[in-house]
Amino acid sequence: MTYRARVASINEAVGQATIAVPVTFHDGGAAVSDTVPLDVGGVKVPHAFTKEWCDRQGLKDEAGSVVVLRSWQGPNVALVSLGADDQVAEHYRQGGAGALRAAGESSVAFLLPTEGLGDPLSVAQALIEGALLASYNFKDAGPDATFDVVPIGAPLPSVEAHDEVTKGVERGTLIADAVNWAKFLVDSPADAMAPRELANEIDRRLSRDEHVQIEVWTEPKIKEERLGGLLGVGRGSAQPTRLVYATYDPQPGKQLPHVALVGKGITFDSGGLSIKAHEKMMTMKTDMSGAAIVMAALSLASVLALQVRVTAIAPLAENLLGDSATKPGDVLTIRNGMTIEVLNTDAEGRLVLADGLSLAVEANPDVIIDVATLTGAQSVALGDEVGALFATDDVLALQILAASERSGEPFWRLPLVDRYESHIGSDVADMKNMGKPLKAGSIVAALLLRRFTDDKPWAHLDIAGPARSEAAHGYITKGATAFSTRTLLEYLEALANSAR
Ligand code: BES
Ligand code: MN
Ligand code: ZN
Repeated sequence: MTYRARVASINEAVGQATIAVPVTFHDGGAAVSDTVPLDVGGVKVPHAFTKEWCDRQGLKDEAGSVVVLRSWQGPNVALVSLGADDQVAEHYRQGGAGALRAAGESSVAFLLPTEGLGDPLSVAQALIEGALLASYNFKDAGPDATFDVVPIGAPLPSVEAHDEVTKGVERGTLIADAVNWAKFLVDSPADAMAPRELANEIDRRLSRDEHVQIEVWTEPKIKEERLGGLLGVGRGSAQPTRLVYATYDPQPGKQLPHVALVGKGITFDSGGLSIKAHEKMMTMKTDMSGAAIVMAALSLASVLALQVRVTAIAPLAENLLGDSATKPGDVLTIRNGMTIEVLNTDAEGRLVLADGLSLAVEANPDVIIDVATLTGAQSVALGDEVGALFATDDVLALQILAASERSGEPFWRLPLVDRYESHIGSDVADMKNMGKPLKAGSIVAALLLRRFTDDKPWAHLDIAGPARSEAAHGYITKGATAFSTRTLLEYLEALANSAR
């Protein structure tokens, strides 16, 4: 479905096929806000529910749970659970997704009581994020429909609340649009989104953003710039290698906080000559998630006019095993002059990121953050719903964890264990690209990346697990998730606001 979100009045809302009404749980059962009318377009809206009734109907105190009361005359009423707390943005994200799924393929109006809401903007934003993220469908865009948000007061919401809700709906729309774009890039088959096509698509989208400059480097330029890691990974494929270098600077000449983002852009990871088993290869078009995510985050910084400087770098290559492919034992020289012995061509992410991070250091940012589907060990450790965070700076780690708390994208910090540096020692180069089998693979990969960050405050997000979902749940759709995009945005926004 292609949903459009807007703020509507109750009179407009009654025309929609489904009216969604939020329900909050308390000890004895559940309730709808007193400010919601008892009669909406001729349909009765019940306001209090016993625990027994909720149990029987399957309405749970888990945000996003929904029960639809069908009507033969007017709109259906979808009771949407916000859990036990109607002040938490994530509950509205789940609620928006629940309302959207309950509406089936048609338009829906969500009644949003604003009295007593601490932050109507964030709540409305979250509601629309959840609804529009859940509405994503790679295969068919479907017919057009609307997701109306109806601010409710007694009898009318205050002008301030109405304005906040309007802003929230606008922001939620822009954010979901960028995240869904990143999901689309990831879900596209590897042949349709090979490095050249991906670079073109990023260029096309970011060119329309204000204060954004974008460069696409082709192979001659990549050679001239001595990106030996990226070239070494891309040389086994007939698909030409690219690098996207994008900057957003709303006030050139002013000293805004500067964040460099680096995203892994392997458009397909076969493993190279260290070829993957076929079952593990099936989802490897996902391996450019980091690139899509950092570009979506930069685009959002511009669209939301954040007062920060962002540099986003995405090395793009296909990891194949053609006759000029890098072989186990080959040594690659990275941009910063360090050498890496490639013992496993399937540990390619760290090779392209080594070049990306070296370039990021040269841009002299205050902070570097990379995002990568880097190690299978990450999803062994944390599964498909939690990302791994590594950081060389405790303040940065806390800022990212706080951002992740707000975005609803959970991360868990893992340690950079200095003693494991010995795992990547090499007899022929500065390091080798793999550690010991089954020994802290995510940490060892992070340690290798750290060597290319030149002591800048740096964080690494390994999202091998959460980059895709095996099933739709809440506002997550099956397939690509673009997990991290909204956390990066929250981080950038907090940084912009703290610097003002
Ligand atoms: N892209 C993979 C990591 C991955 C695995 C992402 C599963 C998503 C799901 C990465 O390039 C890779 O193959 N890593 C190897 C490293 C090893 C050879 C040192 C791995 O994790 O097995
Ligand atoms: Mn690999
Ligand atoms: Zn990979």
